[in-house]
Amino acid sequence: MSSKISKIAILTSGGDAPGMNAAIRSFVRLAEYNNIEIIGVKRGFQGLIEGCFEKLEIRSVSNILGKGGTFLRSARSIEFLDKKKRNLAYKNLLNHGINALVVIGGNGSLTGAGVFAEEFNVPVIGIPASIDNDVYGTDFSIGYNTALETIVESVDKIRDTANSHNRLFFIEVMGRKSGNLALNASLASGACFVILPEKDFQLIDLVKRLEENKKRNKESSIVIVAEGNNYGPSYKIAQDLSKVYSAYESKVTILGHIQRGGKPSSFDRILASQLGMAALEAFKLKKYNTSVGLVNNALIHSPISEVINATNNLSNDLYRLNKIISR
Ligand code: F6P
Repeated sequence: MSSKISKIAILTSGGDAPGMNAAIRSFVRLAEYNNIEIIGVKRGFQGLIEGCFEKLEIRSVSNILGKGGTFLRSARSIEFLDKKKRNLAYKNLLNHGINALVVIGGNGSLTGAGVFAEEFNVPVIGIPASIDNDVYGTDFSIGYNTALETIVESVDKIRDTANSHNRLFFIEVMGRKSGNLALNASLASGACFVILPEKDFQLIDLVKRLEENKKRNKESSIVIVAEGNNYGPSYKIAQDLSKVYSAYESKVTILGHIQRGGKPSSFDRILASQLGMAALEAFKLKKYNTSVGLVNNALIHSPISEVINATNNLSNDLYRLNKIISR
């Protein structure tokens, strides 16, 4: 590909995250300011294969800053795993005179971006967006803060009814491999127990905690369950618990995709705008094949190869804190 970057394609891929629109808006406006043409790709890598392109200008990204989802649409493209299809995607870029690519998404999307960049020598920059906050190389990925607020608001509401009926509620949140959402939701909502993918869970630990709480006159309880925990779905946990402990009537609420929708928080809008700027800077500084991030309040660029081979570990300090104060 030519060394002068004059036309860049941008796409959103994988699970949508509130704030993706704000990142596109920021990148498009900064690119236009720097006389770089931007092409939006519809439906992620799938749209790259099918050539679903549209020119983006300042006004194409008006009134999207406060909107959830992604106006470019997203997809988890199975076809992009096939080298022949990736070849088609590359040809589409060449045919449109596009000489670089921005990928906004989580770990799977950044992995696809890294493979594509290496195979075809296309300069690629990743912008981390995932409600799971499991992308390495950034303290926060776009969408996490909004999803956390949505969960905490929901748990607060459930607590009202849990208290009124002296019930135990299992509230299942997203996070197949990462407990960041679950742990922080537990801390922020005052749950009495949290079940995480990163920590081995045994039913007896929950029974002990509930017995202790009962002795301290706790009348209702909230347990936050991350979907990817080692034991199983929250319905199974509730059912198995009822066989060995019956002091509480228990109920299950699965928050599901409500966690991914809604207006992005101010934090996510600002984070996304900053990461859009870091992506544009990455091109100017020729820091190709990197993923941008915000670490200790500074914008950084990390090689995609490093980002996809590491994980954003759960904070053990927060885990210990939560364990002690959640009674
Ligand atoms: O990766 C983000 C995420 O929201 C996970 O937390 C969740 O497990 C998954 O996506 C759900 O994906 P889908 O909407 O494709 O079922």
